[in-house]
Amino acid sequence: MSTDKLIIFDTTMRDGEQSPGASMTREEKLRIARALERMRVDVIEAGFPAASNGDFEAVQAIAGVVKNSTVAGLCRANDKDIQRGIDALKAAESWRIHLFLATSALHMEKKLRMTPDQVFEQAKLAVRFARNACPDVEFSPEDGSRSDPDFLCRVLETVIAEGATTINIPDTVGYAVPELYGAFIRDLRERIPNSDKAIWSVHCHNDLGMAVANSLAGVTIGGARQVECTINGLGERAGNTSLEEIVMAVRTRKDFFKLETGIDATQIVPTSRLVSQITGFVVQPNKAVVGANAFAHASGIHQDGVLKARETYEIMTAEDVGWSANRIVLGKLSGRTAFKQRLKELGIEMDNEDAYNKAFARFKDLADKKSEIFDEDLQALVTDAGMPDSAEHWKLVHMAQGSGMGERPHASVVMSEAGAEKSSEAGGDGPVDAVFKAIEGLANSGAELLLYSVNAVTQGTESQGEVTVRLSRAGRIVNGVGADTDIIVASAKAYIGALNKLASKAERINPQL
Ligand code: KIV
Ligand code: ZN
Repeated sequence: MSTDKLIIFDTTMRDGEQSPGASMTREEKLRIARALERMRVDVIEAGFPAASNGDFEAVQAIAGVVKNSTVAGLCRANDKDIQRGIDALKAAESWRIHLFLATSALHMEKKLRMTPDQVFEQAKLAVRFARNACPDVEFSPEDGSRSDPDFLCRVLETVIAEGATTINIPDTVGYAVPELYGAFIRDLRERIPNSDKAIWSVHCHNDLGMAVANSLAGVTIGGARQVECTINGLGERAGNTSLEEIVMAVRTRKDFFKLETGIDATQIVPTSRLVSQITGFVVQPNKAVVGANAFAHASGIHQDGVLKARETYEIMTAEDVGWSANRIVLGKLSGRTAFKQRLKELGIEMDNEDAYNKAFARFKDLADKKSEIFDEDLQALVTDAGMPDSAEHWKLVHMAQGSGMGERPHASVVMSEAGAEKSSEAGGDGPVDAVFKAIEGLANSGAELLLYSVNAVTQGTESQGEVTVRLSRAGRIVNGVGADTDIIVASAKAYIGALNKLASKAERINPQL
């Protein structure tokens, strides 16, 4: 059977990061980039370099460490943005400039306030400028699936002639229907005389729950050979096409798709967990491939069938996608070398020895409280480390709380602000409420709490609790994540983590605006 290669383009750190509250620090992005490279993703879209200095630095750092995947940066179709992209990416082993410009009548008229001729000219000049610096240029006509096909043919033929090597057709607002989207791409490819000079790509949003189906139709009907997707389907609004679903659909139904990806599927679950821990976006239990129940057989009939012959109810194995039973990896007596080695095996690399020393000290604290340390604990421990010390406006020094039946919960906290210790006390409706009120007694952030969620990192009552707190202030939404065997302490850490992100003044432009 002859098979074609399907290019997997991951945009977790760009489109995924656009989801409210999912913004990531440079260190967090580096960890995700290493995990994606280990998974053998073909193209990693590392960010939007012109969005902010933080984005630029994160893209530059990723370009500096990733060796086996192409690193891409998103740029609006103007010389200033493109130059920012070039500067951030040029040190990479392999890099791509990803340009976008809206082509639907609605976007051109209402958002860009440009005529189709102006858009045509800008697309042409932008690709020409990018192609002078970079041999790998992708062009995306934003809102492509709702654009006039005649106009698209004109623009796309020209940008291919200018040297665009990948043409991506975004379904920006998740409006497409599989058969129509697939046929739309097929017709464009048939009508554009030089369409064979570029690789065609799909980029779908999940507003109607059809992102994966649309992407696959773009591949089978439309002939696209690149899929843009994100881990756990993270992304604006209802999210993007989910990487794990695409990869496993193509692999499990190879008989039908006759395609191959280069992905190491055993890295799917660890990477899914990492992204979930970093962003605080919990994966729903019944999510395909990476949900906690994806391979759980609860009904007696199914259990009986699976025990007799696994294939009766399972089309892929949990091991295929990297689900391994919780493994005890380290304990109280484990030394620094074993700790560092296990982090390395999990793909966690730290910038310097000081960072390892701090993580090791946290590990020892945890091992004092918890006899068995699992991989998930190590990941939570590193995520819990939050931002680099220099970026921590607030630090939790101490906290205590008391509650009991019929008693009003009460909490006291000691925090340091830029090195100076301050304390506060408060009562609340519950222990978490009391702690948050005590913290706010010092921080006075004026932020609104949008989300509070607690998850067990592993099984059993000894497990660490991992808490996500989402705060909003003046239109800015941030997440904080904290882990501890004491969930009230984890809650305080998560709240303070979110406050530190709010204090970090990062201003970003949203690429779709
Ligand atoms: O959804 C979209 O249109 C995009 C483009 C910038 C590729 O994310
Ligand atoms: Zn998008």
